Parts: sequence; structure tokens; C-alpha cells
Amino acid sequence: VTAGGTREAIDPVRFISNYSSGKMGLAVAEAAADRGAGVVLVTTAPFVGHPGVAARQVESAAEMLAAVREELDGAHLLVMVAAVADFRPARAATGKIRREETKSLELKLEKNVDILAELGRDGRAEGVFRVGFAAEDADLEQHATEKLARKKLDAIVANDIRGGVFGSDENAGVMFFRTGERLELPRSSKRQMAERILDAVRERLP
Ligand code: CTP
Repeated sequence: VTAGGTREAIDPVRFISNYSSGKMGLAVAEAAADRGAGVVLVTTAPFVGHPGVAARQVESAAEMLAAVREELDGAHLLVMVAAVADFRPARAATGKIRREETKSLELKLEKNVDILAELGRDGRAEGVFRVGFAAEDADLEQHATEKLARKKLDAIVANDIRGGVFGSDENAGVMFFRTGERLELPRSSKRQMAERILDAVRERLP
């Protein structure tokens, strides 16, 4: 399970990130562990620990990809809840950028690695049931099902972020499956939503 928003370095003290709190990913990891799964949580968000969950703390998308690659061997399920930064500074300054010495600052951003697409490409995720998350503010179904196909996922959870999901203890959405099925996920606690997602996955695991 991945959680949190990735942090892409500008210099040793600054980064670009997003509003993801990591709560949904933590809820999925804890719910799966409480069902007896051996869980590895690859997270940018702080994690206090939970029985059955081994945490790997990462920062950037590149680090997250490397950690997920290592942990995928022998896994049955990958749930990519993390909000991966789509762009990162083309180069991070090695020393702190000083305000006094810098009149204005232009950041050149380049496209970040797409973790799910990479894993789909190198065959490492073959046989692993892959669930993505999609935060959308419009055309939920169209965008989510397009990502489901493009990233070769088994399922995707579409989150409507217009209700103010980030940092909240509640969430709602719709889950779409490769098979064309859909499952409404009514507003509930993130833990309750995690349970519903895992129930749906459980029924479909080979
Ligand atoms: N994801 C990923 N690597 C990225 C971006 C996203 O693996 N660089 C994963 C996320 O963890 C999530 C799924 O892909 O499970 C969908 O994320 P989203 O940001 O909605 O997809 P994008 O392809 O970035 O599409 P958008 O243009 O809407 O940002």
C-alpha cells in the first residue's frame, strides 16, 4: 500500500508536494493488516505503527517506485493510494537557495515517473492485483476508467475531491473494475471505505 503525497526537492530545505494527508492509505494498510495480511506501507506521511504493517518511509516518486519495486516480489495486491507528484523540479539545487542572493526564482518542472505505468511496463507487477486511486474534480467516471485502462489496473477508486477530501477523516467515491463492474462507495470514515474496498478486492482475487 502506498500513502501520502510525494515530495519533490527544490533544494535541501524545500519541496513541491500536494494536499494528500496519507490518511486513506494508512486506513487501507491497517484494515488489510487487521484481516491478517502481511502489509508493507510505502509512505511519505508519518506513521506511528500498527501490528502487521511494516512501514517504509520515502520522499519522492523515484524513491517510492524503487521501494514498491523491491516489495512487489511475492505480493498479491498493490493499492496505490499515494498522490504522486506529476511534476518535479528538473534539477534540485544541492545547496540552500538563499533569498538575499536570489531576486526571483523560476522553477523548471519536468514530468515525474508514473509509478503504475512503470510497473505495468516492466512486468514486475504481473499477477499482482492492482488498485489505483484517482482524485478527480470533474468527469469522474470518464477520467477514472481511462486511467484504469491506461495504467492496466484491475480496479480504480475514483474520489470526488470537490467535497474537500484532503485531510478529512471521511471519504466517498466510486470503484470501477476492469470487468466493467462498478461499486458505489458512500460517504463514510476512511477506515470504513477501506473495508469496503478490501471486501470488493477479496471477492475478485484469483
Ligand atoms: N500514479 C502513479 N504515478 C504517477 C501519478 C499517479 O503511480 N506519477 C498513480 C496514483 O498513485 C494513483 C493513480 O496513478 O493510484 C492515478 O493517479 P492520478 O494522479 O489521478 O493519475 P495521473 O495519471 O497523474 O492523471 P492526472 O492527469 O489526472 O494527474
